[in-house]
Amino acid sequence: MSQALDRINALRAQLHQHNHNYYVLDAPSIPDAEYDRLFRELQQLELEHPDAVTNDSPTQRVGGAALKTFSQVQHEVPMLSLGNAFAEQDLHDFVRRVREGLGDLLPAGDLFGGGAEVAFTCEPKLDGLAVSLLYEEGVLTRGATRGDGSTGEDITINVRTIRNVPLKLQGSDWPPVLEVRGEVYISHAGFAALNQRALAEGSKVFANPRNAAAGSLRQLDSKITASRPLEFCAYGFGRVEGGELADSQYHILQQFKRWGIPISPELRQVSGAEALLAYYQDIGARRAALSYDIDGVVFKVDDLAWQAQLGFRAREPRWAIAHKFPAQEEITTLLDVEFQVGRTGAVTPVARLAPVQVAGVTVSNATLHNMDEVARLGLMIGDTVVIRRAGDVIPQVVSVVLERRPDDAQAVTIACQCPVCGSAVERTQLIKRGKGKDSVSEGAVYRCVGRLACQAQLIQAIIHFVSRRAMDIDGLGDKIVEQLVNEGLLRSPADLYALQYERIVGLEGFADLSTRNLLAAIAQSRQVSLARFIYALGIPDVGEETAKLLARALGSLARISQALPEVLTYLPDVGLEVAHEIHSFFADSHNQHVISALLEQGVVLEESSELHAEFSACATLASVLEKLNINHIASTGAQRLAQRFGSLSALLAADWLDLRSIERFTEKAAQSLREFLANPANVARAQAIEAQLLEFGMHWQSPKQALTGLPLAGQTWVLTGTLEIMSREQAKAKLEDLGAKVAGSVSAKTHCVVAGPGAGSKLTKAQQLGVAVLDEAAFMQRLQALTG
Ligand code: IVH
Repeated sequence: MSQALDRINALRAQLHQHNHNYYVLDAPSIPDAEYDRLFRELQQLELEHPDAVTNDSPTQRVGGAALKTFSQVQHEVPMLSLGNAFAEQDLHDFVRRVREGLGDLLPAGDLFGGGAEVAFTCEPKLDGLAVSLLYEEGVLTRGATRGDGSTGEDITINVRTIRNVPLKLQGSDWPPVLEVRGEVYISHAGFAALNQRALAEGSKVFANPRNAAAGSLRQLDSKITASRPLEFCAYGFGRVEGGELADSQYHILQQFKRWGIPISPELRQVSGAEALLAYYQDIGARRAALSYDIDGVVFKVDDLAWQAQLGFRAREPRWAIAHKFPAQEEITTLLDVEFQVGRTGAVTPVARLAPVQVAGVTVSNATLHNMDEVARLGLMIGDTVVIRRAGDVIPQVVSVVLERRPDDAQAVTIACQCPVCGSAVERTQLIKRGKGKDSVSEGAVYRCVGRLACQAQLIQAIIHFVSRRAMDIDGLGDKIVEQLVNEGLLRSPADLYALQYERIVGLEGFADLSTRNLLAAIAQSRQVSLARFIYALGIPDVGEETAKLLARALGSLARISQALPEVLTYLPDVGLEVAHEIHSFFADSHNQHVISALLEQGVVLEESSELHAEFSACATLASVLEKLNINHIASTGAQRLAQRFGSLSALLAADWLDLRSIERFTEKAAQSLREFLANPANVARAQAIEAQLLEFGMHWQSPKQALTGLPLAGQTWVLTGTLEIMSREQAKAKLEDLGAKVAGSVSAKTHCVVAGPGAGSKLTKAQQLGVAVLDEAAFMQRLQALTG
């Protein structure tokens, strides 16, 4: 037991240190896999020795049993709020009041009669929620919300899940009782990832990071909180017993930092009103580029003795003030809801607003995403609405001011006909295809069925088709595409290749030379790589990367267009949903018609026609069985079936007795397999998949081709921060030589991020998404290993 305890303690110490390096210092010290291994070892030991589980163990971050309610917490030192300054004059008044309040305490000025300047700390005002963290003997024992300032709620189990909140303080010179106060918030990247996940899962999206943080912190089920990207930043303290903190705000925060408590990297110590204004302006100018929302900056008299002298007025300290930025939320009237038709026919509502100034910009439109969002907001035309602009994000409607709803407010309805072409608008339920049965999620999209007969879809489709990363036709801007469509010269992308000089010259903006240039650019685009062509087709959910992957893996348009969804899912990163989109796009007769017209007009595809070696013989019988999605047969069941029968034909011909004789195969699974085999359509589908795998050379019996691929082929890497050993260009070139693609931003598809000193939001995003991160030394090692 004592040996196990020693190991438990050693593991905890190591994991605490790694957590700190990762979440507070932004400098991961071991690979994720190694961290996971240590974590699992600790989990296992704690499982074997439940008595040894302590509240400060890193395993306690994953959340625990759900609560029924939160209990109340009395704040012995009340959690107060701050007075606000909006104009410059408010700030000068604040500094004057501080000077007057300090009176004799303020040292005499210099010989020229100016008074000595008061030192202040400057901090950003994070837009999240105030929380109190109680540390006893250096261990986090309680977390609480602010509540009304005197009574809050006990949210200990939730704050424990916040990754950058230390469960145990570092060092040993902290006071035995220390209450740390600060803000819990969600960064922009965390918010985007959270909403992306919500969309993918068909659950509700959050209106803004603050709401998401508030909702996450007040979850009774801490496992949900654990899955949310909450972060903490300390700005003050409450109870301190048995020891003392430093004597100034600035130095106390520096102590916090040493003890592993995250503080703002924007913390400054300055003197005099002018310096405060300069800080306000500097942060204001960088506000949009910060990776989290702030609504102003906070100035505090730095000296704690001076703070005590100044004291409080009502519930606000006289020694601090929040200098707010102009509001990012405003109210205005919803004049109308119009509907826009996108490239894939999706009909989306757009709010037309009475123009209003929000943080210096006139806003008259806001996106409403979809009809679910309209319903969620309970929006009616004529309503007074709260709108919000955050950074460079498109303005959003946040909520309706119900008290101001006029009597003649009108419901928002989506027309049954497309506002552009008059075709029917169909409501399609979003289908979530997962393991087992398809499930219908809550969301619904409305689509105009007009396809290219719908002017809006046609224009968008052609704009996409000619764009730089697609067919790359120079000189065909959005306006010209619109003009050519309106003139009736383009009814499909294929018509581009049939355009004639006589029909264009003389159109507005087209003289002899410009007409010839345009036709030359179109002609030049005829020869195109398969990847660009696939991307240009604008298949829903198929971006540039997926298009490249399809082209590289399958090698020919013929294969891509015939591939069954189950076969497409053998490609990395192609899920069943995308596979279905691709398959139904090519199965559609209208799309087939456009593609043949393009080829008839002389578009020539550069195709390798070869199946990529990586995919020759990549399928196994077990994996095919798994992809058939038979109830109660997942991967182990599929493996047992594959072992028992050896071939698909043997399995399809299996009789009742054969099925009973499979070792460790449940009666339920056997029954479900029998039902599956009794349906001829299922048998035909299984046979079609096998036939296609054989035809493509992906079948387990197909001859394996030698792998000639580059070691990093198919991977996407991101470089961020400063690299010291080699330049970024060199690193990029090296990676590309090894077959990797180097991208500018981090997404869930990124394989690895190389982060040098000074790495910021990209590193944070990688961590939030769980993408592997290497420092430059580890990167050099990896390169060495790959190049030998
Ligand atoms: S100090 C007695 N500092 O703003 C001083 N508050 O309006 C109490 N806030 O409830 C607060 N960033 O949630 C302080 N750097 C900062 C802050 C900050 C955000 C929030 C906090 C507080 C509210 C006060």
